[in-house]
Formats: sequence, C-alpha cells, structure tokens
Amino acid sequence: MKRSEINTILRSAIQFIHDQHFALPPFAYWTPEAWGIKGDEVREIVDRKLGWDITDFGSGDFERIGLFLFTLRNGRPENLKTLQGKLYAEKLLIIQVGQVTPTHYHASKMEDIINRSGGRLGIELYESLPDGGLDLAAEVSVSLDGVQHRLPAGSQVFLTPGESITLTRGLYHRFWAEDAPVLAGEVSSVNDDDADNYFYDAPGRFPAIEEDEPPLYLLCNDYPRYYHLVKQV
Ligand SMILES: [Fe+2]
Repeated sequence: MKRSEINTILRSAIQFIHDQHFALPPFAYWTPEAWGIKGDEVREIVDRKLGWDITDFGSGDFERIGLFLFTLRNGRPENLKTLQGKLYAEKLLIIQVGQVTPTHYHASKMEDIINRSGGRLGIELYESLPDGGLDLAAEVSVSLDGVQHRLPAGSQVFLTPGESITLTRGLYHRFWAEDAPVLAGEVSSVNDDDADNYFYDAPGRFPAIEEDEPPLYLLCNDYPRYYHLVKQV
C-alpha cells in the first residue's frame, strides 16, 4: 500500500469514528515527531502493537479486501502461560461496504466481534480441518449474544448494531459490511497478529508500504523505525 493511501484512509476513519461518537486514547494522535522523543514509558504501546493498523492483506486492493483496525489494549502471548499481566485485548474495526476480511481462524485467540454502530455486518463461518482446509460438512456452533446456535457449514450470520458473535478457536470466519460502513469492536484473549492468523486464501496479515509521502500517524508496525531510530541518535 502507498503511504498516501494509508493517510487518506486514516483521515476518513478518524472522521467516521468521531461521527459514531467513539473516542480514541491520546496515543492515537501522537505525530511521528512526537514519537521521536518518547522513552521507555511507552514500551507497552510499542511491544503490544497498540494503535493504528491498516491492511489490504497483501491484496493490493484495500477497498475490496482490507480492514481498518485500532488496537486499544493487548497483553503478551506469554501471559497466557504465566497467567500474569493482561490476558485480554480490545480493538476497534471499521468495515466498508463490499470490503472483505479474508477467511481466517485463530489457534490461540478467542474473540467476540461486536457491531457497535453503522450498517449490518455479515460473517461467514466454517470449522477448520486439521490440514487447514474448510470443513464443508461439519455444523458450526456459535454463541450470538449468549444464545447458542448450530448452523450448517458456510452459514452467514448478520449482526445489527448492538449484536455480537463469539468466534471460538479454529473457527474460520470472513466478514464484510452489507449496507453501510460498520464500526465494530473486538474483545478477545491476547492477540498475536504475527503468529496467530491462519488465512485460507490471503497472502498475509500486514501490507508492504511504499513511502510516497510522510506518515500522518504511525501504524503499529512503524514504531520500531521511528521510535528506536531516534533513541539511538
Ligand atoms: Fe479473526
């Protein structure tokens, strides 16, 4: 993705989040220059990859295959073994009409996807097979706001604002906005985007970035370049 495209997406996402009456924490609006003088006190933001996260999943076509995310909080993967520190994570997502997040599952993370406001959120579900394939036969068992459902493989569920779904480990999911952009929440166990996304048909989780203009705000994967570089000077 070009940095100019990312900056444009950021500007419209900030407006949408404001229009939906959601507020982000202060670090959302730290400039690249402000990042340059941060010290160890912001280690949690850097290490846990909090903040802006915009991806086309390597598709080169964000409007069709892409997702906007902001990670509000997260723990370390090792916390799940030690039961120390944060064991949970929270993200904000914006899903555009006709924009798909490709089919994937998580081996470790269990997540609730919540439609906070906007349009209808469509989600397609399959169980995964041990070899990573889609289980075209097995029924899917999901909880929708505390109500258990058993659905045929490949079923689509639609969440209106206020509704949520619990995605258990190993459950393949793909989602998109049906009729209007959706502001969604994700509440989960610890999130590890480097190791815990198993895509069925997407090249990868993070895009390569072509730097055709300066970043408006840093994405979570930009921190090492700006934060450590300036600290070493
Ligand atoms: Fe997911």
